[in-house]
Amino acid sequence: MALTAITLLCFAALLPFPGLGGSEEHSGKQGPIPIKVTVINKFNNTNISYSTTAPVGMPIFGILNQLHDKNNFNFTYTISKSYGIFLESVNGLAGSTERHTYWELLSKKGNSITQLNVGIGCYQPKKNENFIMNFTTWD
Ligand SMILES: *[C@@H]1O[C@H](CO)[C@@H](O)[C@H](O)[C@H]1NC(C)=O
Ligand SMILES: *[C@@H]1O[C@H](CO)[C@@H](O)[C@H](O)[C@H]1NC(C)=O
Ligand SMILES: *[C@@H]1O[C@H](CO)[C@@H](O)[C@H](O)[C@H]1NC(C)=O
Ligand SMILES: *[C@@H]1O[C@H](CO)[C@@H](O)[C@H](O)[C@H]1NC(C)=O
Repeated sequence: MALTAITLLCFAALLPFPGLGGSEEHSGKQGPIPIKVTVINKFNNTNISYSTTAPVGMPIFGILNQLHDKNNFNFTYTISKSYGIFLESVNGLAGSTERHTYWELLSKKGNSITQLNVGIGCYQPKKNENFIMNFTTWD
């Protein structure tokens, strides 16, 4: 039940991001776009950011794999047959059903922060977006 709250259906991502022919392609900017990835855990004062670039349309899952290959970053995931890729741990710390903890996925554009409504396998960050993984609790 927690899982369904965190990871939503993948194909919802197709609505706000029509095909792979988003506006960035139409404006002729096909090159890699800058993206920032941040890991926050206020329970132990972690706040690490990684700056990277990725091709337009690459899901955050691919970007995290790139970070793992190029930086001191690691993560693990499970694959749900129904919901797709579910982020399990970041830099060695996993969410726990027992402790009611999980990695909350957030997107920061300018000063506005929103919760992701799709999982990491589907979500395609935009240019200059800050993708945030925030270790948090649910009640
Ligand atoms: C994390 O650090 C950045 C600066 O490096 C700051 O802008 C941001 O507010 C910090 N976030 C939290 C939750 O502390
Ligand atoms: C992942 O990162 C954590 C913290 O940075 C580290 O303790 C752990 O050994 C790493 N695990 C792997 C498989 O690289
Ligand atoms: C603090 O949290 C980070 C992830 O946010 C994790 O890599 C690290 O192991 C944690 N450290 C401790 C002492 O719990
Ligand atoms: C991140 O998680 C902490 C701990 O639950 C929470 O206080 C904070 O509001 C969250 N940050 C954001 C940007 O939602």
